[in-house]
This record gives sequence, C-alpha cells and structure tokens, in this order.
Amino acid sequence: NIKGVIFDLDGVISNTSRLHSDAWHQVADKVGTEWTESLSNKLKGVSRMESLELILQASSLESHYNDQQKQELAHDKNKDYLRRVENMTKNDILPGIESFLESLKQNHYGLALASASKNSARVLEKTGLSHYFSEIVDPTKLSKGKPDPEIFATAAKLLRLAPEKCLGIEDAVMGIRSINAANIFSIGIGDKNILNEAGIVFENTELLTLSNIRSHFDKK
Ligand code: BG6
Ligand code: MG
Repeated sequence: NIKGVIFDLDGVISNTSRLHSDAWHQVADKVGTEWTESLSNKLKGVSRMESLELILQASSLESHYNDQQKQELAHDKNKDYLRRVENMTKNDILPGIESFLESLKQNHYGLALASASKNSARVLEKTGLSHYFSEIVDPTKLSKGKPDPEIFATAAKLLRLAPEKCLGIEDAVMGIRSINAANIFSIGIGDKNILNEAGIVFENTELLTLSNIRSHFDKK
C-alpha cells in the first residue's frame, strides 16, 4: 500500500555527501578544528549554517567569529562545494539509483525530494535526474531542519499522500530521525550500527531495489 517514496539527496542519490564533507574539511582546517569521522557524520543532513556552528563548537570557537565572519566562512564553503558540483556528471549518481528511480516511475509511485541543501536542483540537473521528481521541498521555506519532521511531512503533503503511504530514504542519522518523527517508514543507506533507528538498513544503494524492500515487508 506504499504509494510514494521520499528521497534525501546527498549520500542517497548522488555522491555529494563526499563533496560536502571535503569542502567542510577545508573549513575545519582553516579555523583549526580537528576533522574526524564522527564530526563528519554529525554534519550529514544538517543545514549550512548549522554545520558551520558544529565545526566551530567542536573546538569551542563559536564566540571567536562574529556573524559576518560566519557568513563569509559559509559562503566560501559553498563556493568551493559548487565548484565541485560543476564537475559532476551521470557518473556521480550512486550505484543502482537510476534503475531504482526508473522502476519506481514504471510502477507509478510518487517521487519527492527532501534535501536540506539549497543546491539540490543544481545537483539533479548535473546528474540528469530532475525529471523523476514531481515534488521538491524548498528548504528555505521550512522553519526547522532535520531531525525535525517538517521536511519529510511537507514532502508527503506535496505528494498528497498520508505519511503511512510513503517511504523515506536517508543516509544520515538526523534524516532517519526526521522521517520517523513524520510517521513515515524509514530506510537507511549505510552502516546499520550508525543508522540503528531506521526501519530497514541497506548497506549501499545497490541493494535498494523494490524487490528487496518488498521482501522485507513480506517477512513481517
Ligand atoms: C544536506 C547535506 O543535504 O545539505 C549537508 O547532507 C549540507 O552536508 C546540507 O550541509 C546543506 O547544503 P547546502 O548545499 O545548502 O549548503
Ligand atoms: Mg544525506
């Protein structure tokens, strides 16, 4: 009885999680915050300014920068990120994603994008995937980011579907929390120990197929 699928973008559809992370790593080096795996995971799914705050907080630097300096750091990060995005092609779509999107389309599922990124439309364009999504949530219109349910709840509304009729797919802990809080069934992509709050976890996007999802529900 699932009728719609709501996707996160970075780290689910495209390998841009890596590009965001590389660009933030440079910011961390600039301000003198040690770049760790755990910090990198904490930033996933989190908005630009909140990500910057987390990097500054990691070395108690939040009060060393005024608002204008913070805006500049975030602006530079975005410039760096966009430079990387301009080099993207279809090769940057994660394995199996395009065929999964195609099978969802063939089977008449509604498809929506729920990304915290203000650059998501550009990434979809560069990878040639824009046409799959009838609905894209505009993160600038939201009052709260992930883990708040607002973004996934809004996506379900745009699809005109009850949350129970949707699936949400995420690679970030904050994203899984947002999906769950919206009463949508959550699918995690990545490490099951990290994404242990998800309804199902697939280790990678290649395992994300309609038949694998169906067989999970059949076993229940
Ligand atoms: C999320 C990414 O999708 O978007 C984060 O997981 C990123 O890493 C956030 O910081 C905001 O993106 P942007 O492109 O608006 O700076
Ligand atoms: Mg993500």
